[in-house]
Amino acid sequence: MSPIPHGIRTLGVLGAGQMGLGIAFVSALRARVPVLLYDKSEAQVTKGLAFMDKLLEKDVSKGRISSEDAKGARERVSVVKELEGLRDVDMAVEAVSESLPLKKSIFASLAATLRPDAILATNTSSISITKIAASAIPTGLSAASDEGKQSAGRVVGLHFFNPVPVMKLVELISALQTTPETLDRARSFAVACGKEVTTSKDVPGFVSNALLMPFINEAIMHLEKGIATREDIDTTLKLGMNHPMGPLQLADFIGLDTCLAIQQTLYEGTGDSKYRPSVLLERMVDAQFYGKKSGKGFYDYTS
Ligand code: 3HC
Repeated sequence: MSPIPHGIRTLGVLGAGQMGLGIAFVSALRARVPVLLYDKSEAQVTKGLAFMDKLLEKDVSKGRISSEDAKGARERVSVVKELEGLRDVDMAVEAVSESLPLKKSIFASLAATLRPDAILATNTSSISITKIAASAIPTGLSAASDEGKQSAGRVVGLHFFNPVPVMKLVELISALQTTPETLDRARSFAVACGKEVTTSKDVPGFVSNALLMPFINEAIMHLEKGIATREDIDTTLKLGMNHPMGPLQLADFIGLDTCLAIQQTLYEGTGDSKYRPSVLLERMVDAQFYGKKSGKGFYDYTS
């Protein structure tokens, strides 16, 4: 029996993009857990680790952590080049792009590779955890069998927010199959990462994005209709409601492709027209204007 309540002695993180990297960062620095980072793109891993170094240096220079803490955290993060390298982890957190077929194939591989008691968490923003959990049942096993229930029961939603090192929340989502033990351990791990935890049922967008995305979409429709300029829409919400960012700026920050994927999941999952993505958002994504990460969204980030 592990002395730590979550029992996670080694964590695997799949995806070294802004979310995966942030999750690796708080796990290594705050929960002090060794992290194995996997991404199929070596360039993404290199970029992510360089960013982690910068974040640690900044925290040291601001006196928030000692240089020993920074060195320890950095040393706790290592890279694996194949998914099989995650074989012995106690929990894997998937943070790849918002695509159900991609997540299904990853969870099928994780279920086949990791120990039966390892937790399989997804950082999805809106996709059904129950659907993802169903893909973690090894081929040939029935969902109603003890082994099928055990395999799907270790899948859980662990939804971090961007930027992960700064945002204080993790949303915990239980699939229909998730066991109480998986939920408790995942919650306890998020707390060890320094996060406050809220729970949501497995509905499209959970609590966070079911509320945030219609707000962002309304702002885009206000721009589309020419009701106000992008600056006036953002300034109204920033100064009028004390939001740290206006909704268009926030959409650029999250990624317009991600916003569209979440809105499509909400619309398809509920059939409710209030979630229908605006045409302007679709056209921005068609044009490959993905927001801050691509240099252009509602604002320009090239200079
Ligand atoms: N990674 C790590 N740290 C970051 C960062 C990043 N990508 N971006 C900013 N920070 C840090 C800065 O380094 C700085 O740290 P410091 O206090 O040690 O100096 C701190 O955040 C503040 O940054 P800045 O001074 O540069 O700028 P701001 O004061 O404007 O804050 C912000 C930036 C924290 C991003 C703030 O604007 C904010 O809170 N915005 C709203 C973010 C938000 O709503 N996130 C949730 C998005 S929804 C989501 O993630 C769910 C998903 O499913 C879609």
